[in-house]
Amino acid sequence: MKDKNFPPLKNDNLLRAARGEDVDRIPVWVMRQAGRYLPEFQEVRKEHDFFTICRTPELACEVTMQPLRRFDLDASIIFSDILVIPQALGMTVEMLPGKGPHFPEPLNEPKDLEKLTPEGAVNRLNYVGDAITMMRHKLEGKVPLIGFTGAPWTLMGYMIEGGGSKTMSKAKAWLEKYPEDTEKLLNLLTDCIVDYFEMQVKAGAQLLQVFESSAEYLTKEQFLFLSIPYLRSIREKLQDRLIKQSIPPVPMTIFAKGAGHSLAEQASIGYDIISLDWTVDPIKAREAVGPNITLQGNLDPQDLYKTPEEIKSLTRDMVNKFGKRRYIANLGHGITPQTPIESMDAFVNEVHKTL
Ligand code: CP3
Repeated sequence: MKDKNFPPLKNDNLLRAARGEDVDRIPVWVMRQAGRYLPEFQEVRKEHDFFTICRTPELACEVTMQPLRRFDLDASIIFSDILVIPQALGMTVEMLPGKGPHFPEPLNEPKDLEKLTPEGAVNRLNYVGDAITMMRHKLEGKVPLIGFTGAPWTLMGYMIEGGGSKTMSKAKAWLEKYPEDTEKLLNLLTDCIVDYFEMQVKAGAQLLQVFESSAEYLTKEQFLFLSIPYLRSIREKLQDRLIKQSIPPVPMTIFAKGAGHSLAEQASIGYDIISLDWTVDPIKAREAVGPNITLQGNLDPQDLYKTPEEIKSLTRDMVNKFGKRRYIANLGHGITPQTPIESMDAFVNEVHKTL
């Protein structure tokens, strides 16, 4: 936004790729690029609880900056988590070291929905906006800043399971038992996400990514019913609001892990970028989405355990399959804590050598 006096952007390859324009080099960033594979992140984590880092703009910015100091990346993503929305809705979420997220009081039955506090939820997320605005200044225009959210179904899954789950069996039982309350919860989350994204754009986010990481637990039919309509609505409602306030639209990405079965449907709901997990073949994906969508992905995070030479060769093969137009290089899911630092260099630098 003009009134925030942000420094001009020097490397806009990410935004150009999103708009289908020519790029100087293929843009590359990595999901979870700020994370536990970086010793300097571990250092910060020793001192501070996970959500304290998210809630303290100076710490969130420091951690967001860490991968940019080491690697020649074309984007930054604000350090936060998808589970800040359930927190803003009144639920307690803890991050247990080595275990991941834990909700002491998950949603067990429909009457638990009454405990959620959607009014004013977005105001309780203002710290994310503060971190975004601070980060835009600290970046000095080096690369664009990405904001993000979890998608309604993925958030609902965590809120009912009370944490990660191998099967999502509680959330799936809820779907069967309480179809009306499912719709109610998915709509409540959709509205909250639209408010949250509007706030992120006003704070300075230059691209928005929606993580539907738990799409993999749904059948195609369920995905079309429980995910696609809400993703469509998030985009439509957000763009409406931005237009009404004369705010230029920002490109949007959908990452629906495990939903390679529904690429044409994902391409039909107005998002600029579809991020692919590593199971999807780039050539088939391009056929499915047509020429007017940007694809992002999709090296298997596990490939980063291979030697630098092998990583470079796999990266070249990947880029050749995607082609150089309307393409953003990334992994097919988040980088793992076990990944050697050299692997990131091999991946990022090889992408840049291809153009
Ligand atoms: O660098 C970045 O990408 C930005 C930061 C970011 C985090 N989480 C930080 C994080 C982003 C974009 C997320 C998104 C997120 N969070 C998703 C969607 C992406 C995906 O991986 O599918 C999901 C499902 C979550 C929920 C979540 N947060 C889980 C399941 C876990 C535990 C498992 C794991 O990978 O550690 C987290 C913890 C988390 N979020 C960490 C980080 C750096 C590690 C926790 C720690 O430091 O203790």
